[in-house]
Amino acid sequence: MDAIGTIEIAGIVADIAAEMGAAAERGTVASYIPPLAQVPPEKFGIAVVMADGAVHVAGDADEAFSIQSISKVFSLTLALGAVGDQLWQRVGREPSGSAFNSIVQLESEQGIPRNPFINAGAIVVCDVLLGRSAPAEAIAQMVRFVRTLAGDEAGSIGIDEAVASAEQDTGFRNMALANYMRAFGNIRAPVERVLGVYFHFCALAMSCRELAMAGRYLMNGGRVGGHSVITANRARRINALMMSCGHYDNSGDFAFRVGLPGKSGVGGGILCVAPGIASIAVWSPGLNASGNSQLGTLALERLVQRTGWSVF
Ligand code: DON
Repeated sequence: MDAIGTIEIAGIVADIAAEMGAAAERGTVASYIPPLAQVPPEKFGIAVVMADGAVHVAGDADEAFSIQSISKVFSLTLALGAVGDQLWQRVGREPSGSAFNSIVQLESEQGIPRNPFINAGAIVVCDVLLGRSAPAEAIAQMVRFVRTLAGDEAGSIGIDEAVASAEQDTGFRNMALANYMRAFGNIRAPVERVLGVYFHFCALAMSCRELAMAGRYLMNGGRVGGHSVITANRARRINALMMSCGHYDNSGDFAFRVGLPGKSGVGGGILCVAPGIASIAVWSPGLNASGNSQLGTLALERLVQRTGWSVF
């Protein structure tokens, strides 16, 4: 397919926002993290950042939301930078085929999570980062990293402390996951410290525009603004994990419908990468049964249908 022109993409983005804004069936807003339950399901935002720097936004693209598990892409990037491929001794690279917060496979797999995007895997990633930094520094490093990726000189990106605190109070499944892995020796720092870092990462608040900007390094072979953030090979591997594991037990359907590397969060956001073409972020708070944004997924399916950006 010939490259889609800027004007055409702007029109496609506007059409998608109009369709999603009018959609009746919007999924169900997450309720297990109390502040997320208050987010209006009518919200919809989309941002597309092109390889040439053009930015196309529509809807609530400049309203910050809790990125939740999308933060696992950034924590994985930091952990690979810290320990390289040693990480894969503690967490796998295989899809789990189960819910994002499942504990089942840990028992038969010696406490080693299938991949870094399920909650257990992301908790191990946080433990790895705590091997290098105290909790407060690990959190500050994450905020600095994401601001740099997004080109956020103003420093508007930050942690929603109310969300982090709410998860500290209600994150019983994650406490079980972390303690179970500690019993296997795959969590080394005190569980409450590891979870404190994990909950703060999940509580990062960003807009679609900021998130799409932050995803540029994965679209651009590891580079942002002429600087190398990670190697092209590492960017490819993170994209591969997003494709195979980024939507948990919905990853196959997402690959079938959208055909791009993507990472969801229970706040209703999805970060999606068209390698070499665009970094895309969508936000619609209502979730499907697997905890992924119902209209965010449909919006990306529409975008790929009209642009031909699927990798397949
Ligand atoms: O730990 C949790 O359950 C949430 N902080 C993150 C889960 C999440 O975003 C799953 N993605 N769809």
